[in-house]
Amino acid sequence: MINKTLLNPNLLKAEYAVRGPIVIRAQQLEEKGKKIIYCNIGNPQALKQKPLTFIRQMLSLIENPELLDKPEILKYYSNDIINRAKEFLIKHPHGTGAYTQSAGIPFIKQAVAEFIKRRDNIPANKDFIILTDGASKGVQGALMALLKSPNDGFMIPIPQYPLYSASIELYGGKQIGYYIDETGKWQLNEDVLEKSISNAKMNSLNPVAIAVINPGNPTGAVLSLENIKMIINFAKKHSLSILADEVYQENVYDSSVKFYSFAKVMHEMNVNDVSLFSFHSVSKGFLGECGHRGGYTEFRNMPPDVMAELVKLQSISLCANVVGQVATYLMVSPPREGDESYQLYISERDSILSDLKTKAEILGREINKIPGMSLESPQGAMYAFVKFELPHDPKLNLNAMNEESRIAYEAKRDSDYCMSLLEETGICVVPGSGFGQIPGTLHFRTTFLPPQNEIQEFVEKLKNFHITYGKRLNESYK
Ligand SMILES: Cc1ncc(COP(=O)(O)O)c(C=O)c1O
Repeated sequence: MINKTLLNPNLLKAEYAVRGPIVIRAQQLEEKGKKIIYCNIGNPQALKQKPLTFIRQMLSLIENPELLDKPEILKYYSNDIINRAKEFLIKHPHGTGAYTQSAGIPFIKQAVAEFIKRRDNIPANKDFIILTDGASKGVQGALMALLKSPNDGFMIPIPQYPLYSASIELYGGKQIGYYIDETGKWQLNEDVLEKSISNAKMNSLNPVAIAVINPGNPTGAVLSLENIKMIINFAKKHSLSILADEVYQENVYDSSVKFYSFAKVMHEMNVNDVSLFSFHSVSKGFLGECGHRGGYTEFRNMPPDVMAELVKLQSISLCANVVGQVATYLMVSPPREGDESYQLYISERDSILSDLKTKAEILGREINKIPGMSLESPQGAMYAFVKFELPHDPKLNLNAMNEESRIAYEAKRDSDYCMSLLEETGICVVPGSGFGQIPGTLHFRTTFLPPQNEIQEFVEKLKNFHITYGKRLNESYK
């Protein structure tokens, strides 16, 4: 029989904190009847966010066209939805049960291109778009395609979303971490990028791409236009491709900041020699359709023969799931003003976004009041990366530790903290070490997706827990 030593060692090394031991324990506690506040993962509909009526009605008619012959059911649907579902099925008569073209259904790719044109006021070409099973598969495809040798490295933010670190590990590449600036609203810092790339080169690594998450996970930060320009110039200087993870582009709550896509900024800077992979998804924004696994990658400055290889890579898994492709279509071509379904769509969208904004504000405000905790108020996305302090064991000489043992020591401290938080309060968050953090600091990542009353409960419980946990640690060091 197979055993673990027979598995791919890269799989054994890959870690994915957002679904790690703390979440497993949360599920066990829940089975035993404990109330858990799940703040570990950006999965909005698991936390009571309702799907948009437009999306679900369209999906149901397209999945089950027989409904289009049932007037007793159609009376609940707006006329524009019925007509669009019919049009969809005329353009794509195979429905959702047949494989599609590898890169996705052509008129959906066209709709994505038009969405990008509308969003950014720049040209976009459907032949440089691939529909994917969520953004994850797009990111993994890009990493796989760019990785030629075990010393090829990807610059990834620290803290980062562990899809990057885990997939790079899985494919046998190297991570080149760059710290993002907690004291500077989590923007990227050019000096830090330069140091990180020159260290990597000194260690014989070959940097091939830089990954940027904007708006940020786990930080909730939104990158400024100047910051994006700096990153594009940095990539150009060092001949790096850019992987722009823009799945949270609709989740911007702070009215003093704005989302700029890398595609737009790059186009306006007239940069045509830096290859760009941009990722988007139906999982986030106000759709929250994580389970439908829809998304796309848009490619820029990509020679046609390279593009053909990227499509071939996608063709190895045939095509993205078709319901996910349809969900992507609906995300990029919502109801238009004047359509019967328009008002409801807008009111559902606005209520989800304004609820998220309120919760981001509550969390930012209340957590900053807890002694020993601080947080850059999230400007976007669905997360806050909370910094916290714990007393140290005076018998330990931290300065005598090398960086590796220091990171391991802190990883144990934040994991123990999050595990006790779960056991004692039912709050499920992810230790900062799962995303990476500056040695000497402790964090956890929380979402602000639970309903508002649970966010209040969360903050109260967190405050009491933090105070008692600190006291208990102090006692144990005596
Ligand atoms: C930054 C980031 N990129 C990609 C993903 C993956 O999204 P998808 O569900 O589209 O695969 C997530 C999911 O949380 C994310 O936070």
